[in-house]
Amino acid sequence: MNQNNTTIKFENVTKVYHLGGIDIPVLRGVSCEIKKGEHVAIMGPSGSGKTTMLNIIGCLDRVTSGKYFLEGKDISTLDDDALSEIRSRKIGFIFQSYNLIPQLTVLENIEMPLFYQQVDEAKTREKAIELAQMVGLGDRIRHRPSELSGGQQQRVAIARALMNDPVLILADEPTGNLDSVSGREIMKLLCQLNQQGTTLIVVTHDPNVAKYSSRTLKMLDGKISNED
Ligand SMILES: Nc1ncnc2c1ncn2[C@@H]1O[C@H](COP(=O)(O)OP(=O)(O)OP(=O)(O)O)[C@@H](O)[C@H]1O
Ligand SMILES: [Mg+2]
Repeated sequence: MNQNNTTIKFENVTKVYHLGGIDIPVLRGVSCEIKKGEHVAIMGPSGSGKTTMLNIIGCLDRVTSGKYFLEGKDISTLDDDALSEIRSRKIGFIFQSYNLIPQLTVLENIEMPLFYQQVDEAKTREKAIELAQMVGLGDRIRHRPSELSGGQQQRVAIARALMNDPVLILADEPTGNLDSVSGREIMKLLCQLNQQGTTLIVVTHDPNVAKYSSRTLKMLDGKISNED
């Protein structure tokens, strides 16, 4: 197996949350591989562990046991600083509820990922404007999120996710709050990024969203139940 070609590898990953002295097993031994440039959908009932799995992939959370390799590197044991460094260099997140900052303009929201990094202000601005144009919002950069439609807000979130040139885009129900037309536009945009080489993982309940992917992992009770 060519390790360089594998972006994500889970080996018997478990995740147990502890709440009020009670153990809640959420992932119960997940093993899978996702290759560089793939577009994978994750489906499964509510509570089956999809978001938990995505959060671990995105270095927002850690495995309880088992191993997680990202680009061949074992990151199961890294500390918070190392994980956040990986997040800011490699990963773009897109959420169902957009997670934009209401007080900031479209342009300022897009610039956020570079806000705390030592990047030249003018270059940051130039890149944010380019990305705003790329997602079709070049004429909306001074607007606030509340002045945009849901589909437009999600396009801002996609532009923001691209600010750090991620190798991996993780989207958790990216079309969950959108009508079907806006949902299709968002999926087309994500597929376009995938075709340019970015690995794309989309959690969804919607078979119409999953069908854009080349592979679907189905989760059930904290395990991958099957794949097609
Ligand atoms: N921080 C946490 N502490 C305790 N339990 C948690 C935590 N996060 C998730 N869980 C539990 O883990 C299980 C899986 O949650 P997860 O969010 O991964 O499901 P999901 O498949 O994404 O569901 P949905 O489709 O509803 O978004 C749920 O039973 C949930 O209550
Ligand atoms: Mg979820």
